[in-house]
Amino acid sequence: MSTPHISAEKSDIAPVVLMPGDPLRAKMIAETYLENVTQFNAVRNMFGYTGTYKGKAISVMGSGMGMPSIGIYSYELFKMYDVDTIIRIGSCGAYTDALDLYDVILATGSYSESTYASVQSGQDAPDILAPSPSVNEALEAAAKDLNIPIKKGIIHSSDVFYRQDTQHFKRLHEEKGVIAVEMESYALFHNAHVLGKHAACLLTVSDSLVTHEATTAEERQNAFTQMMEVALSQAV
Ligand code: HPA
Repeated sequence: MSTPHISAEKSDIAPVVLMPGDPLRAKMIAETYLENVTQFNAVRNMFGYTGTYKGKAISVMGSGMGMPSIGIYSYELFKMYDVDTIIRIGSCGAYTDALDLYDVILATGSYSESTYASVQSGQDAPDILAPSPSVNEALEAAAKDLNIPIKKGIIHSSDVFYRQDTQHFKRLHEEKGVIAVEMESYALFHNAHVLGKHAACLLTVSDSLVTHEATTAEERQNAFTQMMEVALSQAV
């Protein structure tokens, strides 16, 4: 079978899918961590793989950047491929100096000014959406087992990477309590809500809007390892 954006059989995709933004990161995760790997998608180079981690089937697929992109892929995975749980594993920009580069963050909510949820559902939608408590609990437990510290907070899910007003984040941090910014979790959480599925979002701080520090590609790679281990461990 295929959908407009995924060409795979239902049985090719596991009930739990990890979603980094970058399809090449999905490839790297599959090659590094999974056994018995098969590639299930290559449409638009949005690579998806299924393998086993500690004997349990798990899939990993890129989401692309932004809510329209993750909105499409997560909808098709949940609705057409019977996927039960999607865990976004991405990067974020810190809105507060209480966060350091490489901190691993578990989203307890996703705030957005995006119209994604209201347009998708055809009705008013909250501007803060929640992840699935059961998945968050499993991720927290996995992090504890692995001795990997995680910070929790509400994330800003933004439609805009480059704002004219570079200081706008300060107001959002004060008024909405958001601690960091990324661009996908709000659409993912919404799709999970309307389709009766599960979603969560783990992030690594890759840059700071406060201090303007940024990570190198190599440093990011190492930091992402911890986040991926948490995400993979909760699946087993
Ligand atoms: N803005 C939006 N998304 C991001 C950022 C950012 O600064 N860093 C990582 N993802």
